[in-house]
Amino acid sequence: MKLWAGRFSKEADKKTNDFNSSIATDSRMYAQDIDGSIAHVTMLAAKGIIPQDDAAAIAAELVQIKADIADGDLLIDPNAEDIHTFIEQTLTERIGDAGKRLHTGRSRNDQVALDVRLYLRDECDQTLDLIKQLIKALSEKGEEYPDAIMPGYTHLQRAQPITFKAHLAAYIEMLTRDLGRVEDAKKRMNSSPLGSGALAGTTYPIDRAMTASLLGFDSYTKSTLDGVADRDFCIELASALSICMVHLSRLCEEIILWCSWEFKFVELDDAFSTGSSIMPQKKNPDIAELVRGKSGRVIGDLMTLLTVMKGLPLAYNKDMQEDKDAIFDAFDTVKICLVTLVPMIETMKAIPENMRKAAAGGFINATDCADYLVSKGLPFRDAYKATGELVALCIREGKTLETLTIDEYKSVCELFDNGVYEAINLENCVRRRGM
Ligand code: ARG
Repeated sequence: MKLWAGRFSKEADKKTNDFNSSIATDSRMYAQDIDGSIAHVTMLAAKGIIPQDDAAAIAAELVQIKADIADGDLLIDPNAEDIHTFIEQTLTERIGDAGKRLHTGRSRNDQVALDVRLYLRDECDQTLDLIKQLIKALSEKGEEYPDAIMPGYTHLQRAQPITFKAHLAAYIEMLTRDLGRVEDAKKRMNSSPLGSGALAGTTYPIDRAMTASLLGFDSYTKSTLDGVADRDFCIELASALSICMVHLSRLCEEIILWCSWEFKFVELDDAFSTGSSIMPQKKNPDIAELVRGKSGRVIGDLMTLLTVMKGLPLAYNKDMQEDKDAIFDAFDTVKICLVTLVPMIETMKAIPENMRKAAAGGFINATDCADYLVSKGLPFRDAYKATGELVALCIREGKTLETLTIDEYKSVCELFDNGVYEAINLENCVRRRGM
């Protein structure tokens, strides 16, 4: 029986019912829905809006329903319209008329806006914790190889010498900003919409501050229309998560490159690699590739949310039911990626010899060579040109800056002396840059 059976003379068409239902998506918010209802009913009784006995019976049964769902003793009806309806109907089936008082002064519109916020608050905490774990794994990985020198790249061309640790530290910075973005969005989201009603609040003397505080919110939303119509918090979080996925995707792209025989800077543990069904020699970085691929999903979720919201008149519209699939998928995806990436990074082995070998080619100390001439008084542009000539000489002769003789150096610029070998030593180059 539908909530609105009084107004309607026919049951909904089966396919319409399935199309309209959100139970498959929102049943995961059952605990938050119940917590919200308990706070609401506690407030209703405190304000004398419903009898104390009824409120106590409702709250006690809601606690029981929550336990029964958690234990698998109460199965959520897949044909129910949504989780809010299912819980309210179960409550009334179990305790009779008292249950019918629960929805006094409330609408599913403020109820769903509340449930999603409560649910996402927990999702934020789990995600923040996982990002912190990845930061720790990257930082420890860098510490494991404090002296590993590798080429730093621009345009994927060897550019200047850096340490492996400094390379990983860049990802730590990105992830630290991700933490800040999620924390910031979470703070803004932490305002209770409960009491907004369908859109215009209620005429009952409710206490919005009380429900907000019972549920751990910092405040409650001022405009009741905005309280039910706002999904900025979903968009902000999806945006923060998309940026985070872009970071994870870039990290994974590098790991994929580094695993190739062309680089072989790292080796992933067998537990985090896969083989080929035909090529016996293969060891593929599938996990890293999947994370890179899944970044597309999360960015897609952000686009879904922006597009769903952009043309909606105030206040609640059913379009907004689509918010949950998108934002839940975004969190699920980021979390599963992080859960998989953390141990993959923890068990990843670096191969410093290969990094050093790559760093020895590509003239990545050419800037240091030019800077050496500058220290001898030559203007940088002239030093740059002289070093360019040296690089061309090396390429012609099949040499490196390290193997050029001092006479060869002097043939290009008289200012060179034996100090140049010290200046272009890769360890010195890195040390001088504080890496
Ligand atoms: N399932 C709905 C949603 O997710 C709950 C709110 C329904 N409100 C309504 N007026 N039909 O948005």
